[in-house]
Amino acid sequence: MKLWSGRFQKDVDSQVNDFNSSISFDARLYRQDIAGSIAHATMLGEQGIIAQTEAEQIVNGLRTILEEVESGVIEFSEDNEDIHMNMEVLLTQKIGEAGKRLHTGRSRNDQVAVDFRLYVKEQINEIISMILRLESTLVKQAENNIDAVMPGYTHLQRAQPLTFAHTMMAYANMFRRDLTRFEDCIDRMNESPLGAGALATSTHPIDRDRTAQLLGFTKPMDNSLDAVSDRDFALEFLSACSILMMHLSRFSEEIILWCSWEFQFIELDDAYATGSSIMPQKKNPDIAELVRGKTGRVYGSLISLLTVMKGLPLAYNKDMQEDKEPVFDAIDTVTLCLPVFTAMLDTLTVKRTPMRNAAAGGFITATDCADYLAKKGMPFREAYGIVGKLVDRCIRTGSTLETLPMEDYKEISSLFDNDIYENLSLEACVEGRNVFGGPASSSVKQQIESIKSFIKERE
Ligand code: ARG
Repeated sequence: MKLWSGRFQKDVDSQVNDFNSSISFDARLYRQDIAGSIAHATMLGEQGIIAQTEAEQIVNGLRTILEEVESGVIEFSEDNEDIHMNMEVLLTQKIGEAGKRLHTGRSRNDQVAVDFRLYVKEQINEIISMILRLESTLVKQAENNIDAVMPGYTHLQRAQPLTFAHTMMAYANMFRRDLTRFEDCIDRMNESPLGAGALATSTHPIDRDRTAQLLGFTKPMDNSLDAVSDRDFALEFLSACSILMMHLSRFSEEIILWCSWEFQFIELDDAYATGSSIMPQKKNPDIAELVRGKTGRVYGSLISLLTVMKGLPLAYNKDMQEDKEPVFDAIDTVTLCLPVFTAMLDTLTVKRTPMRNAAAGGFITATDCADYLAKKGMPFREAYGIVGKLVDRCIRTGSTLETLPMEDYKEISSLFDNDIYENLSLEACVEGRNVFGGPASSSVKQQIESIKSFIKERE
């Protein structure tokens, strides 16, 4: 018998029963559902809508159910459709009559909205601590590699020299913004839909401020129609997850490149790489590849829910039951990726020599060479042209800007002097870029300090 069977003459078809039921996935919300019901029952008792003794019976019954669910004694049933009805049935079986009063002045529509918000809020806090651990690892890798010169790329062509630390801080800044996106998301979702009822609140004298306060929300949501039918908090969360995964995926892509035999900038720890079943020489960056691959499913979750929501009239529609699985899958994916990625990053070895050698080839100091002439008074555009000629000569004679003889330099411009060689050393080129945000050790140290205080503020 369904809780809602009053106006029906027939039992629901068993196919429909299975089709309609969400308990197989929304059982995950059991803690939030119990918390929401405890707050609601407490308020009902305080307002005299139900007797205090009944409110107490309900609260105690729910606490016992919580323990029983956690110890695995309780099994939910498909026949009771979702977590909300399963809980009500269990409660009534346990405490009798009083259990039937819990649903006074409330609907599953505000119930599911409150459960889902509480759950997402909690998971965001978990994700934030994981991002903070990633930030600390980036700081560690940066501090250990302040002077590890590496080539910086544009178009995947060697461009200008950087350090490994500077690159780590680039990612640290992306993840810092990701983290604050999650914080913003909590700020906006931190209002309670409870008491919105099915769509239009209730004629009982319920106190929405009280339930909001009991559940740790800043206030009740302003509009009951909005409260039961909006899922933008989940969409905002999925967008934040998608952007985070996009960053992790880009970073993964770099790691995959860096540990290839062609680059050899890093080596993954044996514990964080995998072998091939046929090729004995292989050491594969599977973790990075999987993180890159799993990014797709998080984007998929965002697109699914955007699509579910786009045509729905106010207020609740059953379509909205489809909100949970994409969000759960995104949470599972993000919380699976972040710790393993962090551990992989933490344990990788930076191979300074090949990285420096790669920076030393490919005319990476050509801009510095032009700047040398510009600092001696030549207009930059003209200097640019001259260095182009120098590079061309180097390519034809098989030399580099570092090894090209002084006569060749002089032949192209009399402004060149012996100090060109020290000016073009990789270290000079990196350290010379001590502008705010740049790769020089002094600039990178500032960046590290900024990330460190960001982490500290959240400890
Ligand atoms: N299981 C439903 C969901 O996840 C709960 C709300 C159902 N409300 C309703 N009127 N059918 O959305």
